[in-house]
Amino acid sequence: MTVHFIGAGPGAPDLLTLRGRDLIAACPVCLYAGSLVPSELLSYCPEDAKIVNTASLSLDEIMAEIKAADDAGQDVARLHSGDLSVWSAMGEQLRRLRELDIDYDITPGVPAFAAAAAALGNELTLPGVAQSLVLTRTSGRASAMPEGETLENFAATGATLAIHLSVHVLDDVVARLTPHYGEDCPVAIVWRASWPDQRVVRATLGSVIDATDGERGRTALILVGRALTAEEFRESCLYAGDYDRRFRPVGTEPRFPEGTE
Ligand SMILES: C[S@@+](CC[C@H](N)C(=O)[O-])C[C@H]1O[C@@H](n2cnc3c(N)ncnc32)[C@H](O)[C@@H]1O
Repeated sequence: MTVHFIGAGPGAPDLLTLRGRDLIAACPVCLYAGSLVPSELLSYCPEDAKIVNTASLSLDEIMAEIKAADDAGQDVARLHSGDLSVWSAMGEQLRRLRELDIDYDITPGVPAFAAAAAALGNELTLPGVAQSLVLTRTSGRASAMPEGETLENFAATGATLAIHLSVHVLDDVVARLTPHYGEDCPVAIVWRASWPDQRVVRATLGSVIDATDGERGRTALILVGRALTAEEFRESCLYAGDYDRRFRPVGTEPRFPEGTE
């Protein structure tokens, strides 16, 4: 018996991986985090599958479902929104599974930040402008931020920020970032990226509060950084005609002559 953790993607049902789809179809039990996982994905479950929305369950209750499936020798498809490597509460489930000696594997999914960048039509790392992307959040009721992981500290690097779980405290986010990035720094907010009711607002740190019409409730990602609007960036060396590289040797004495590994 195996618990298959599956990244369900950001919302659009066709942003699920083929591996994820096939695992859902093969598992007699499906546990899904109902608040953000699109219900269309459940249509891949076998007809007689046991399907449980875990949105209202405690960790103990979720583990009881998994234990029951284990006792019955039934594989479980465990769906969480986006990718599982960030803010999925997978870590604590994996720890319990290790204690119970139950097998598991992990199938990645499309994370919200990637869907938001796609909605914006932006690359978040541009040569000479930003070469780092910080996936972060602000403190919530359930989880305080570790010391040092402050917006101010990340802002000091000038990296592109993808701020999760924070649109409800947008005013505070703006107040904390403005001294570092400046009022003219581009901001984009993407609500429910890839869902039919997706909304995008582009603004600056100075204008974003007014631009959002007070919308603070729905699931959204805040992106901040110069890469969001930069046009004056240099082209990457990778595709430059005179750049000698392994897959496109250039010149009379290329560093990687054809035939070398
Ligand atoms: C609990 S975290 C889940 C993150 C997820 N595991 C991922 O890979 O993106 C939920 C937060 O992710 C962001 N988020 C998730 N889905 C989103 C979407 N479709 N559009 C915009 N933001 C989204 C929001 O900031 C939301 O508060």
